Amino acid sequence: MSELIIRPSTPLRGRVALPGDKSISHRALLLGALAKGTSRVSGFLPAADCQATLRCLRALGVEIEELDSSTLIIHGRGLYGLRPPRAPLDCGGSGTTMRLLSGILAGQPFHSVLTGNAQLRRRPMERIAIPLRRMGATVIDTDGHAPLIIPGGQLRGMDYVLPVASAQVKSAILLAGLYAGGRTTVREPGPARDHTERMLQAMGADLTVDGPVITLRPGRPLRARHVAVPGDISSAAFLIAAAALVPGSEVALDQVGVNPTRTGALDVLRSMGAEILLADATKEGSERDWGNEPMADLTVRASELQATEIGGTLIPRLIDELPLLALVATQAQGTTMIRDAAELRVKETDRLATTEAELRKLGAEIEGLPDGVVVRGPSPLVGTEVDSHGDHRLAMTLAVAGLLAAGETLVRDADCIADSFPGFAGTLRRLGASV
Ligand code: S3P
Repeated sequence: MSELIIRPSTPLRGRVALPGDKSISHRALLLGALAKGTSRVSGFLPAADCQATLRCLRALGVEIEELDSSTLIIHGRGLYGLRPPRAPLDCGGSGTTMRLLSGILAGQPFHSVLTGNAQLRRRPMERIAIPLRRMGATVIDTDGHAPLIIPGGQLRGMDYVLPVASAQVKSAILLAGLYAGGRTTVREPGPARDHTERMLQAMGADLTVDGPVITLRPGRPLRARHVAVPGDISSAAFLIAAAALVPGSEVALDQVGVNPTRTGALDVLRSMGAEILLADATKEGSERDWGNEPMADLTVRASELQATEIGGTLIPRLIDELPLLALVATQAQGTTMIRDAAELRVKETDRLATTEAELRKLGAEIEGLPDGVVVRGPSPLVGTEVDSHGDHRLAMTLAVAGLLAAGETLVRDADCIADSFPGFAGTLRRLGASV
């Protein structure tokens, strides 16, 4: 298991091209596989999580060519062209792979088994099993967890109120809805990322969105469509925070996805006083416009930050950035409250507990709440040995902390960074950091 050693940073400077968006890369694969025709995906994220989706689709008979690590050609098999897998489908550590694929497999005329690594087998799967069963599917879980056995069969549409704002659950239901008799409606309690809806619409599905109500009418084939995956704003966030916090920094980030369901962290950082400039990079009709997702070029400059409050419907718009925002709060003036974020307890780790424990080792004044944390700042951080607990977002948060901490910070178990941001350490080095 690899370690990262980080020393206090001189100003970060330069221009960065980011790896592709993880959520959109998964969806480009899954929907490309179900479409009629051939699609080209550029900017695909070749990270461990997306590779898991790719492997599962190959095991379901989908031919996928890798022209280079980030350019794929998917030979779509149409909605009814998947083949029965010969062995259990291994989703690795990817919750998105397991949950979205479950929705698709529930409606197939064959039997599938989905499994994953120990971390994924600890994460809750009832949240998809319950709604899929209401659609008529059989989903056999193991005490609410994977492995999942999905015999496949006939589904019916339904009207479902999502108990949590989860894009994975919403997407699993909509994908099952492609195979259901009748209309499927999903009602969201908050604005979870809407990449599935956008891509389904772009591929010709009969899907309408009316505020928090999404309705899918099955029956139309999906048309293959090229997808240009924008840079991942959740990966960009680490560099944005680093540039905002390391005095004297100025960093430019090109072609970042700025879908409004994902930009909560930008809004929060700006409200804290961060200097973040956005220039629209979506070019209508051009390759950058493929896939229905807005993009922007960002410039970030270091500045003094103030504490803030984060909660309510903002949470799903920045759910993956909360460990990082807790770190940012340690450097801001005043007391920052993060509330309504109990969902963090069922991510790759219990991110409320692991973030609190690891930031405290570095000297942060942070206290846990049942659904969030309270952080008092600014507090000087002091480098020491910290542990990612195998959680990619925590590993990168701790690496950014290391740029600010006095002395040396050692992040244990840093391999997991490749789950979402291969090349993270190299990118920081190119900006001038000592990693
Ligand atoms: C994702 C949805 C979110 C997010 C995860 C990716 C997706 O999870 O945390 O990193 O691609 O749909 P939830 O749907 O569980 O909130």
